[in-house]
Amino acid sequence: MIDTHSHIYDEAYREDFDEMISRARESGVERLVMPGIDSSCHNAMVACADALPYFAYPAIGLHPTEIRENWREELQFVYDHFDDRPWVAIGEIGMDLYWSKEYLQEQIEVFCAQLTLAAEKDLPVIIHAREATEEIFECLRRVAKPLRGSFHAFTGSYETYRRIKAAGDFYVGIGGVVTFKNAHIAQAVERIPLEDILLETDAPYLTPVPYRGKRNESAYVRLVAEKIAAIKGVAFEVVDRVTTENAADLFRFFKK
Ligand code: NI
Repeated sequence: MIDTHSHIYDEAYREDFDEMISRARESGVERLVMPGIDSSCHNAMVACADALPYFAYPAIGLHPTEIRENWREELQFVYDHFDDRPWVAIGEIGMDLYWSKEYLQEQIEVFCAQLTLAAEKDLPVIIHAREATEEIFECLRRVAKPLRGSFHAFTGSYETYRRIKAAGDFYVGIGGVVTFKNAHIAQAVERIPLEDILLETDAPYLTPVPYRGKRNESAYVRLVAEKIAAIKGVAFEVVDRVTTENAADLFRFFKK
């Protein structure tokens, strides 16, 4: 399996990092993608990538919840470090109007700038969308370039999935929420083809059942895959194989 969204560089793993990685490998995780957040977590993420070659692949991007008065410097940080090493994606980027609408215009500007960068560099994007679906679509329209990527932590309807497919070469990232009781996303997952689904955890957040409420980790991506298999009535191995192919097609993992 490939966990396409895991913040393994988070402080939450300071005490048991090596054990957490061992559990992920034992659980069947072959690779994972680390989305960037901002300059403050950049060095920790790069250190994880160097410590885990062929396993932990870093992305670079400015996360929407980290956009505030110093947003110009933070966006510049992305450009300044773009040529440091190969990144598998620009992310995580997007819009989040749940926590605050204070920097709405700045969120739009930063998202559009990073979408444009991804299109120019032919990299996929990892999109964080929270209470901002229409704004996200508006930015995709505004940039008007061919884009590919993942709608991370997708919990929308089948109709929203259809709009995402019409907007570009996108997959939806399905995580722990699909295991929650009465999760609406289960109905959408039933109808969304496996060929358009990526597995993810968003660790240390969004922990699947039966560990909901505790710290999440990449090993639990198996619980997500098993739930998707149950919803779709297919074998776990089918979910594993198809979603791994999807992630490899999207992120084109390089050998470092
Ligand atoms: Ni994330």
